[in-house]
Amino acid sequence: MTNPKFAGHDICLETKRLILRPFELSDFEIALPYYQDPEFKEAMEGTPDRFIDLNMLERIGECMARQGYLFAVVQKATNRVIGEVCLEWMNLSRAKVAPGEKVMRTPLGIWDKSLWGKGYGKEMLECIMQYAFETMTIDRLCAMDISKKNVRSRRLFESCGYRLVRTLANDGAMDFEIEFKDAVYTAHTK
Ligand SMILES: CC(C)(COP(=O)(O)OP(=O)(O)OC[C@H]1O[C@@H](n2cnc3c(N)ncnc32)[C@H](O)[C@@H]1OP(=O)(O)O)[C@@H](O)C(=O)NCCC(=O)NCCS
Repeated sequence: MTNPKFAGHDICLETKRLILRPFELSDFEIALPYYQDPEFKEAMEGTPDRFIDLNMLERIGECMARQGYLFAVVQKATNRVIGEVCLEWMNLSRAKVAPGEKVMRTPLGIWDKSLWGKGYGKEMLECIMQYAFETMTIDRLCAMDISKKNVRSRRLFESCGYRLVRTLANDGAMDFEIEFKDAVYTAHTK
């Protein structure tokens, strides 16, 4: 059993190669070296553009956990925590949430670069999409502030059915979204 205290939920999800479990305080220590890598930090939406220490990382995580469901991603084969994904209630006015509409954001990251491009991102995202749409009956999922340089991330969201809905004037970052009616999942099934 994991301790649900930090994340504030006790949801565990499973895919072929991964377990998504409530994020724990001790997971930040594992994450920290990756957040000190400029390439990873820049790719993660909403991460401050300065050196990140453990205290700051925990405060960012607390904020995400308060605004939704923060998961640590465990690779089953090694029992190692390799990343994070959050189902976070929409907090940006540009996403234009209609009265009664349930809209969430889906930031995610695989900390270890050697694991990029092996289908883990798609497995995590499809698992979260299925939980959000089918169990939580969310209407729309959004990926916000995706850097135009982050081709891997753009491809991930597009390959999971998200479509580009706006490009920001200031820095060219992109917002993607998907509605329940358009959702298909292929990669995550156990
Ligand atoms: C973005 C991220 C989660 C994607 O996960 P991943 O495991 O590397 O990606 P996957 O292997 O699942 O591939 C997803 C899609 O992108 C494509 N892709 C993977 N690497 C690619 C690359 N270097 N260039 C172009 N497309 C690429 C895959 O072919 C796949 O598309 P397909 O299913 O249509 O073939 C991961 O790379 C990561 O954590 N990056 C750093 C943090 C970040 O960018 N987070 C997202 C913004 S919050």
